Amino acid sequence: MSKRIDTWIAAKERGEKRVLVTAYDHPFAKLAEEAGVDGVLVGDSLGMVVQGHRDTLQVTLEQMAYHTEMVARACQRSLVFADLPLGSYEESPAQCWRSASTLLRAGAEVIKWEGGLEFREHLEFSAARGLNVCVHLGLTPQRLRQWGGFQRQATTPAAAERLEQEALTLAQSGARFLLLEAVPAELAARISAQSPIPVIGIGAGPDTDAQVLVLHDVLGFGKAPPFARAFVDGAALLRAGLGDYVQAVREQSFPGKAGKR
Ligand code: KIV
Ligand code: NA
Repeated sequence: MSKRIDTWIAAKERGEKRVLVTAYDHPFAKLAEEAGVDGVLVGDSLGMVVQGHRDTLQVTLEQMAYHTEMVARACQRSLVFADLPLGSYEESPAQCWRSASTLLRAGAEVIKWEGGLEFREHLEFSAARGLNVCVHLGLTPQRLRQWGGFQRQATTPAAAERLEQEALTLAQSGARFLLLEAVPAELAARISAQSPIPVIGIGAGPDTDAQVLVLHDVLGFGKAPPFARAFVDGAALLRAGLGDYVQAVREQSFPGKAGKR
């Protein structure tokens, strides 16, 4: 675990896998850090797993800043990534910088946005001013309506070739991290092998430098995408605990007499 990005590059060179998970508040960010993650992403998946929306399009910059503050306070050693939400960066490098600085002030250390070469000016502008940028390619959920659903990307040889060139160009244009979502494993492996910067994968096979998953998918809450794994049935565990509480009050075994628990 380290706040220093050069240790991520060294880890990549040694072939050591790094691990990220999303988090949206202090207690879960703290649990993730105690479990030993290297990075915590305050994702705009916030809209889906915390706010209960069907997609990420409703999330605002103010909400991202609020959640980033909570997470950043918990992350002593792990690197804090935060997403720029829809509409907060696309117009211009200046708009992008302004929004990024809001998240930096909230405690983010790496700023992620969805999209590649169409934002090359944004990347060069921001990188020249010291911003650590993570470029999210492949399935970019903010463009959901362009596809009419969450769809795997770069599934034809031509599209894969295009994405490979795009990723490598961005890696040379000042990005500190690439994130590949829902692309073929062989493509993600090729990009990771050639990229000088760490590649984080989700639904992109085992050969990226790092993996990220959505917290609620890891913990067994709700319906996870096919590439995710629930490592614990968290919903069942917590439902049981809450059920015990409800029952204890009803049968008057809680609270105990004379202030006893
Ligand atoms: O918002 C998010 O959680 C993400 C990850 C799925 C990569 O962008
Ligand atoms: Na996101």
